[in-house]
Amino acid sequence: MQFSPSDYFTKLKKAEIFPDPERPLEIDLGCGDGSFLIDLAVHFPSKNFLGVERLLGRVRRVCRRSQKEGLQNLKVLRLESSYPLEWLLPDHCASRVHLLFPDPWPKKKHHKRRLVSEEFCTSLVRVLEPNGEFLFKTDHQEYFEESMSVLNSFPSLKETRWDPDSYYPQTDFEKLWAEQGKIIYYARFKSNQ
Ligand SMILES: C[S@@+](CC[C@H](N)C(=O)[O-])C[C@H]1O[C@@H](n2cnc3c(N)ncnc32)[C@H](O)[C@@H]1O
Repeated sequence: MQFSPSDYFTKLKKAEIFPDPERPLEIDLGCGDGSFLIDLAVHFPSKNFLGVERLLGRVRRVCRRSQKEGLQNLKVLRLESSYPLEWLLPDHCASRVHLLFPDPWPKKKHHKRRLVSEEFCTSLVRVLEPNGEFLFKTDHQEYFEESMSVLNSFPSLKETRWDPDSYYPQTDFEKLWAEQGKIIYYARFKSNQ
């Protein structure tokens, strides 16, 4: 279902997002059509999942698909990802934040639109629980390298091995790029705050 805060200018309480705030909350930034999030929500019924997506058509598609599956543990917030991270989400509310195949903005004049920046890291650490995880994938090598340099120089984040045993479905874009034989770059960080 779509999640629309009653007040966009006050920090939310976790219980305002889902009625069972003791459950782990995972956030997917730029969730697109939501296959990844829906798959996770089906696989982990005792966790809650919040997608953030700026395009209304995609938000509606995720909501329709989630309703078809009867999922009570998935909601989608229609906003620019940086706004809830910086202003809206409660401190230390999320066990994992996913950023999967974000728009790479390849033209130099658009690089400032890229999501991963020092400000992003500050907000990420604010939102993550202590020991919470940030999972990042992209097919864009140059964006990956730039992001890794920002993430690795942020003292509250520590890179950790991607755990191949944990259930982590492919996203829609990942399937597309994998079919085309593109290399997928990925990284996992833990917050030590
Ligand atoms: C390349 S698609 C990837 C979608 C999905 N994560 C996947 O891997 O299949 C990027 C998605 O992020 C959304 N998006 C891009 N920038 C965003 C932002 N600043 N805030 C929220 N959504 C954003 C786009 O609308 C699009 O749905």
